[in-house]
Amino acid sequence: MRTMSSHELRDLVRDIATEAATLARTRREEGVSIAASKSSPEDVVTAADREVEAFIRGRISELRPADGFFGEESGAEKGSSGLTWVVDPIDGTVNYLYGIPNYAVSIAVVEGEPDPATWTALAGAIVNPAAGETYEVGRNEGATLNGVTLFREAHVEVPLALLSTGFSYSAERRMWQTGIMQQMMGRVRDYRRMGAASLDIVSVPAGRADAYYEVGTKPWDHAAGVLIAREAGIRVEGLHGSPAGAEMVLAALPGLFEPIHDLLVEFGAEG
Ligand code: IPD
Ligand code: CA
Ligand code: CA
Repeated sequence: MRTMSSHELRDLVRDIATEAATLARTRREEGVSIAASKSSPEDVVTAADREVEAFIRGRISELRPADGFFGEESGAEKGSSGLTWVVDPIDGTVNYLYGIPNYAVSIAVVEGEPDPATWTALAGAIVNPAAGETYEVGRNEGATLNGVTLFREAHVEVPLALLSTGFSYSAERRMWQTGIMQQMMGRVRDYRRMGAASLDIVSVPAGRADAYYEVGTKPWDHAAGVLIAREAGIRVEGLHGSPAGAEMVLAALPGLFEPIHDLLVEFGAEG
């Protein structure tokens, strides 16, 4: 197989994500129901989640047969090329179920073991078909929203910062998370809870929030969003210099990162 340039790879990720998002939207228009529950009764999967992932997986094996795959609904398969596609076929499934136009297909291509602590993300795309919005990114090539370059240099003080976060499907974890939010709430402008981690992360480079954090996200929730945010000048890490991952993804304007980090630690986000 001919080696692909990074630009070609980026275009391919965007094209597959766009086709998959069109399929998700079509299925949404036809009507959606729950196919099964996963980690808790609230953590649902629809037939469309599975169909969209199968579609993406099929396109990858057709076009990039040597690449690995790591998807939410159908698991992982090692490849021989050193590249792995990390896929959330529908991020924001509860929004999808309720017809809230804030869900997305999120795809990243990473190099190395499919572990967010060590991989290098090369390209990604997040497509929200209901909003007609496509985020795309290539490593060291910048990030765009509908073709317009994303880059944020604003300085926002903590009391005027708009925060975004998400919650676990476990009721017990949610109570702990809202306890932290309750304390943070007195220090910042306000919160938004939009219900799709990939779109929440990119809400920071898009200027729709000033910082996002969440505990408990999976690699497919944040793989593409983290690269988009970083390429757009946003600082993204976990706590105490650890890599962004399941323990914490904190994406903030550079001047806000440390104060928000320190408040999260003060209010017990390490637990
Ligand atoms: C979930 C959403 C939600 C976030 C959860 C994710 P799903 O993904 O992104 O906003 O708070 O952590 O699991 O189940 O809709 O793909
Ligand atoms: Ca998800
Ligand atoms: Ca999902």
